[in-house]
Parts: sequence; C-alpha cells; structure tokens
Amino acid sequence: MTIERRRLGRTGLTVPVVGMGTWKTFDVRGRDKEKARHQLTEKALDLGLNLFDSSPMYGEAERVLAAGLGPRRKEALVATKVWASGPREGMNQIEFALGLYGWVDLYQIHNLAMWRTHLPALERLHDDEKVTAIGATHYSSASFDELEEVMKTGRITAIQIPYNPRQTEVERRILPLAADLDLGVVVMRPFGEGTLLRRPPRPEALRPLRHLGVTTWAQALLKWGLSDPRCHVAIPATASQDHLVENAEAGASPWFGPEERQLVAGLATA
Ligand SMILES: NC(=O)c1ccc[n+]([C@@H]2O[C@H](COP(=O)([O-])OP(=O)(O)OC[C@H]3O[C@@H](n4cnc5c(N)ncnc54)[C@H](OP(=O)(O)O)[C@@H]3O)[C@@H](O)[C@H]2O)c1
Repeated sequence: MTIERRRLGRTGLTVPVVGMGTWKTFDVRGRDKEKARHQLTEKALDLGLNLFDSSPMYGEAERVLAAGLGPRRKEALVATKVWASGPREGMNQIEFALGLYGWVDLYQIHNLAMWRTHLPALERLHDDEKVTAIGATHYSSASFDELEEVMKTGRITAIQIPYNPRQTEVERRILPLAADLDLGVVVMRPFGEGTLLRRPPRPEALRPLRHLGVTTWAQALLKWGLSDPRCHVAIPATASQDHLVENAEAGASPWFGPEERQLVAGLATA
C-alpha cells in the first residue's frame, strides 16, 4: 500500500493524504502509555503517513510526539500551533516547539487566537527558515468570516478546517476561496471526533464502495473528504495501531465520484 501524496497548495510542502492528529490521543504521561505512542509514531512513519498535527493546547502531545519521532524527525512533517493570549506566551510556545523539533514544517495559529500578534513572529521565523509554512485553524463555522479575512491577507498558505459528511459548512465559501488562493487544506475531525463511527452502517451498505478499496466505515469517511481535490490531507487521531493501518489504507486512489460521495453522506446523516 502506497499512500498518495499531494502538493499542499503553495506551502512548498508535499504531504501524504492521510496524516495523524494528536489531540487527546498523545496527551499521555507515564512510561507504558508514552512508549505505546512512540511505537504508533514509528508505525505511522513506516506506513508513509508522516504528517503529524499537534498544539500546545494538547497537553503533553507535542513532547510525546517529539520523543516518538526521535532520530527519525527528518522523515516527518510537523504541523503544530501557537495558541496564546499574548506575545510573550506565544514566543514561549514557539521556542518550546522549536527546541523539540528543530524546525516546524507548518506553524498554524490555533483557532485564530491573537492572529495579528502571532503572525509577525511566525513570519520572522519563516524568513529564518525555522518555519516552512504558516497556516491558521478554526473548528467552528461561527469563526469562518474571520478565517476568510486571514486567508485574504496573503500571509498564510494553509488552513485547517473541520470537514466530514455532517459538517460541510466549509463547502460554501472556505474551500472555494482556498482553491482560488491556492492554499493548502488540512482536514481536521474527519470522523467528527469519533461520533460518526459510533453507529456504523451495516457492512452490506458499503458494498458499492468495495471496488474502490473501501472495506470499513472509517475508510469510507476518509475517502469522502479526500475525494474533494480541494482537500489535501486528513488528520484522524487514533491511539490504535490497527486503526492507523485501516486509515492508511484509505489513502490512495481510486477516489469517489459524486454518486459514492452522496451514498456516504446519506449513510452518515441517516
Ligand atoms: N481547532 C483546531 O485546530 C483543531 C480542532 C479539532 C481537531 N484538530 C486536529 O484534528 C485532529 C483530528 O480530530 P479529532 O481528534 O477531534 O477527531 P477525529 O480524528 O475525527 O476522531 C478521532 C476518534 O476517531 C477514532 N478513530 C480513529 N481511527 C479510527 C478507525 N479506523 N476506526 C474506528 N475509530 C477510529 C479514535 O479512536 P481510537 O483511538 O480508538 O482509534 C478517536 O476517538 C485532532 O487530533 C487535532 O490534531 C484541530
């Protein structure tokens, strides 16, 4: 299985279509739990699923991820975030992350928090080649007007947004604008924080997708999002090696056409 890679808009990065989130799953402490996450990180790298998303908001996640990457840091693309209410706190977070990773491939402003304050600091680090690309995230459609404003400044080259069959607000203005501006698009919450997986459809309902390489509901949901060419990488979070493999298996063509997307959307909203 070879994971497909896509150009992440005009960030200069080429990313696997499936990466990995670290919210909750990597916020762990203690030898056994941390070791399990380190093994998961290595497994992700082995599978070619080498983009990892984190944030200082995720407790221990940045630290646990860095330890998991260890000497294989160069094989990874690290997308982390600044999430701070002032410039000093922001710089502390950035210095901490650069200490862990050496450089950051995609530095995102988490939930647009104080973006006017943090953008100049990230731009300086971009000039110093410590940050490859700058992005912004928001999980809530209530903030999409502000996200559009940031996108239009021309100062970011990527966005991270929620997109799954039950959360499609980005289709209205955010995805078309991202395509117009050639921005990279990172898809958070492909499983709606796991809620979309709680009551999966019966296996027979997925039969029409089998010839497209889909054998599970999680794969159907991932392919649903990734079949929109304006989306470049989905970052499901998991603490399970089996789920990691299952998610990786959704990361290659053939992609869905309108009929298959409609089928999955119908099953997800039934
Ligand atoms: N504002 C922001 O910037 C923002 C907001 C939200 C999220 N994010 C980022 O996006 C990432 C993804 O979002 P998310 O973590 O909220 O939710 P998600 O990826 O939609 O769902 C995660 C849940 O799905 C389960 N799961 C994963 N693969 C599975 C599979 N193959 N089969 C069954 N269950 C599976 C996981 O449980 P198991 O451990 O059991 O697999 C976990 O409970 C986050 O980790 C974070 O990095 C960013």
